[in-house]
Amino acid sequence: MIKARPEVEALTPYVAPLEGRRAMLRLDFNESTIGPSPKVVEAIRALPPEAYATYPEYAGLNDAFAAMLGVDVRHVEAFNGVDAAIRAVFDAYGDKGGTFLTTVPTFGYYEPCAQQQGMTIEEIPYAGDLSYPLAAVMQRLEARPRLLFVCNPNNPTGTLVAPETIIGLARSAPDTLVVVDELYAAFTGQSVVPAALALPNVVALQSLSKDAGIAALRLGFAIAHPSIVERLRRVTGPYDINMFAVVAGKAAMEDREHMRRYVDEVLAAKAWTVAELTRLGVRHYAGGGNYLLVWPPRNLARVVDALRADGILVRSMARKPVIDGSFRLTVGTREPMQRFIAAFAGVLGAV
Ligand SMILES: Cc1ncc(COP(=O)(O)O)c(C=O)c1O
Repeated sequence: MIKARPEVEALTPYVAPLEGRRAMLRLDFNESTIGPSPKVVEAIRALPPEAYATYPEYAGLNDAFAAMLGVDVRHVEAFNGVDAAIRAVFDAYGDKGGTFLTTVPTFGYYEPCAQQQGMTIEEIPYAGDLSYPLAAVMQRLEARPRLLFVCNPNNPTGTLVAPETIIGLARSAPDTLVVVDELYAAFTGQSVVPAALALPNVVALQSLSKDAGIAALRLGFAIAHPSIVERLRRVTGPYDINMFAVVAGKAAMEDREHMRRYVDEVLAAKAWTVAELTRLGVRHYAGGGNYLLVWPPRNLARVVDALRADGILVRSMARKPVIDGSFRLTVGTREPMQRFIAAFAGVLGAV
């Protein structure tokens, strides 16, 4: 066997249990429960065979996203999902031996990317009440880490940091690239964009996976000062985004009403779900995002298994620091949440 680089030999890969989910009610990966605008499906159906045979063209894609945000296109670059944008950030800025500062628990893909670069990882735990450990982050920033990631709202805790606070952190640390993963910004209405765009050390990441309902097609964006956008472009391949994603993304952005309506429905269903969990006397935490944390009173593993037996998937947070004993529940439209609450109430009585 030929060994890979020592950093690759040592790393713990990010493995998402994503197989065999199609027939189930999927409340485990924060996906849309309704899918994209019908215009997306129509646009893909209408493609002629030559569209398959030709390398993709990207004209208008960044422009459409920039127009949606109301920013100049110089600030925007598309990626094969925000996952690929995260990889690009580490490829471009994550130097060996440099410090990657983050919080824990947070989105699981950052860590293997940092390990792959041979970075030193510093993880600051969220407080017991799941608030952001701001004082500790500010203190660690004094050591001028290479990268700070703020997942906002944080997945899986839902913790929200005010965009002005993040801008303040970035201003206080001009030698640190501050990456703000805003994957769920559509559900909070809060973003460091446009305020951050004047700063040469902040990148915001946003995606069409969740509110636009095209997670399978993979389309995400980095929004930043043009000097950063240009570096991220240097480390991506010429055709990393496939043609279906381009066509779907443009069609999705032409039907912003579909996304707005979905976000409104999710927020209403979230309020309803929170009220039901309160009625059931079950501990929960609902911060930002289309998800929340639920602590069954006992037997987390059995509850998750019993829900699965009822055809409902949720994501166990067993053994995760700070939130051990909980599961993350994706919030979709009202109907799947009603199905979840009915099943969950039955499971609680049975385990
Ligand atoms: C916080 C966070 N960042 C990034 C991603 C990946 O997003 P994308 O589907 O755009 O690659 C996810 C997906 O769940 C996420 O929760």
